[in-house]
Amino acid sequence: MPLVPMTEFLPKAKANKFAVGQFNMNNLEFTQAIIEAGIEEKSPLIFGVSEGAMRYMGLEYTVAMAKVAAETSGLPVALHLDHGSSFEVVMKCIQAGFSSVMFDGSHYPLEENIRLTKKVVEAAHAVGVSVEGELGTIGGVEDDVSVDEEDAALAKPEEAIRFWEETKVDALAIAVGTAHGMYKGEPKIRFEIIDEVARNVDAPIVLHGGSGVPDESIKKAISLGVGKINVNTENQVACTRVVRQILDEKPDLVDPRKYMGPGREAIKEVVKEKMRLFGSSNQA
Ligand code: 13P
Repeated sequence: MPLVPMTEFLPKAKANKFAVGQFNMNNLEFTQAIIEAGIEEKSPLIFGVSEGAMRYMGLEYTVAMAKVAAETSGLPVALHLDHGSSFEVVMKCIQAGFSSVMFDGSHYPLEENIRLTKKVVEAAHAVGVSVEGELGTIGGVEDDVSVDEEDAALAKPEEAIRFWEETKVDALAIAVGTAHGMYKGEPKIRFEIIDEVARNVDAPIVLHGGSGVPDESIKKAISLGVGKINVNTENQVACTRVVRQILDEKPDLVDPRKYMGPGREAIKEVVKEKMRLFGSSNQA
């Protein structure tokens, strides 16, 4: 199947109370691990690509790898820009073949975020590309996006509802207490914000910072209207742990296939677990 916008599966996810995972692509092994997990679980999936990952892989390689994965798997797969920082980068991705984009205007004042996001929605929808917007600022570090815990601001429900009504984004990321990266303690998720916003907008809510969130919290968030959950760090941790162990045990090993292969397997296992937890298995 060619790459599809998130609207192919997100409305169904919100209506049927499951969530589709956004798993970040960092290299070829991540791409293969994520798509193999999707095939085994018969799950729709979203490849997330941060601007940093795009610089690392190269735009053309990124699109080519995602296209091959989608076409050979037969699954509904979206290739989604994660935290796009400008109209220009969004346009560059759409022209290169992305089927979905996030415009992250969360650091702008509300009016400006609405104005800029609307402009992205107009351009993206004209060519069948889905859009995610963000309100409130999500803490933690993810590539170019770094927000101190103190500066992380929860989304205000009435602003989030207005943001959606005016922009009509296809997926709405709101800051509800999760953060990018692993947590030191347990995240304090503000479920009442998810509940109020989800009941008043058609679009599914997006939960960023999905790594390390307890299973019960994930299930509760989905039951309230979260339809897309982003996971990156847990896959990185699983991959790196295996690679480090192999290299520690075999200091003379030089063939990257001998450690990246097991690293890829470790990512696949995490992604499969998440697909089952999110309820997206057998929804392709
Ligand atoms: P984690 O790295 O915490 O899983 O967050 C991923 C994310 O939200 C990408 O936007």
